Amino acid sequence: KHHLVSAADLTRDDAVLVLDTAEEMARVADRPIKKLPTLRGRTVVNLFFEDSTRTRISFEAAAKRLSADVINFSAKGSSVSKGESLKDTALTLEAMGADAVVIRHPASGAPYRLANSGWIDGAVVNAGDGTHEHPTQALLDAFTMRRRLVGRDTGLGQDLAGRRITIVGDVLHSRVARSNVLLLHTLGAEVTLVAPPTLVPVGVESWPCEVSYDLDRVLPKSDGVMMLRVQRERMNAAFFPTEREYSRRYGLNGERMARMPEHAIVMHPGPMNRGMEITADVADSDRCTAVEQVANGVSIRMAVLYLLLGGAEPAVTHSRIEET
Ligand code: CP
Repeated sequence: KHHLVSAADLTRDDAVLVLDTAEEMARVADRPIKKLPTLRGRTVVNLFFEDSTRTRISFEAAAKRLSADVINFSAKGSSVSKGESLKDTALTLEAMGADAVVIRHPASGAPYRLANSGWIDGAVVNAGDGTHEHPTQALLDAFTMRRRLVGRDTGLGQDLAGRRITIVGDVLHSRVARSNVLLLHTLGAEVTLVAPPTLVPVGVESWPCEVSYDLDRVLPKSDGVMMLRVQRERMNAAFFPTEREYSRRYGLNGERMARMPEHAIVMHPGPMNRGMEITADVADSDRCTAVEQVANGVSIRMAVLYLLLGGAEPAVTHSRIEET
């Protein structure tokens, strides 16, 4: 059975296959009729125990573009607020015949539990669990980097070998950072984390990346700079950094962006704290790919659902998708 719980689930070949399949899916989005019949008759459940804008909407759009039936479940307004457990919620979804469950949960490890519990038969896709992982975000980020830094047309089949990616900010609470470090390492990129010492996770020494506390030194050597949101909702109020202090040392403003090489891009997974980790002029500049990342997320999630549910064979070619 196939699930996508961690970026570490993906070998280099798996990851490149998802990225290449997403390129094919992006071509579908460029057509007047954006739909494929591939997952007709299959049911995808979006099981969201934590707030989301981008991930929930793009999984819904992706499943619909593949003609799957979509059930959107939000813990708010459900029987979870009456104390129903993850197990009983999962058994309910299983009774309704879910072929895939896309789960976001505040508890790190919840998607792993769901995938290995035997409660459901369908594929489990992690849409963000606590401070642990967000593998489809890492895939859409890698897709964006490959298009921007390797080339849209020459990108097929290539990885990010040798590209230097800097991830900046609240690494401690970031599932996006962990999944990106794992996937970018698999794809051959060199990753540097830059964070205040209080926002670096314990055990980071074992991660396949460098750690720096000096953003200005790292920027001129970066091909891509990914700014992370400061996640106040996961912090004890006593540890909130002040906006002024944080943005002075770790925020990306126009002056700092000018230190980056001309070809280098600015990324942000969203939602952004404008004025904290990124200034409005940087967020709205041509070099910032935040909106492009959201669009690419639909292609990536189409590819993931297609490969987990519909792709009987590993290789997907343009002509095969066209024929379906
Ligand atoms: N990037 C991301 O996961 O955004 P949402 O929380 O809005 O889904």
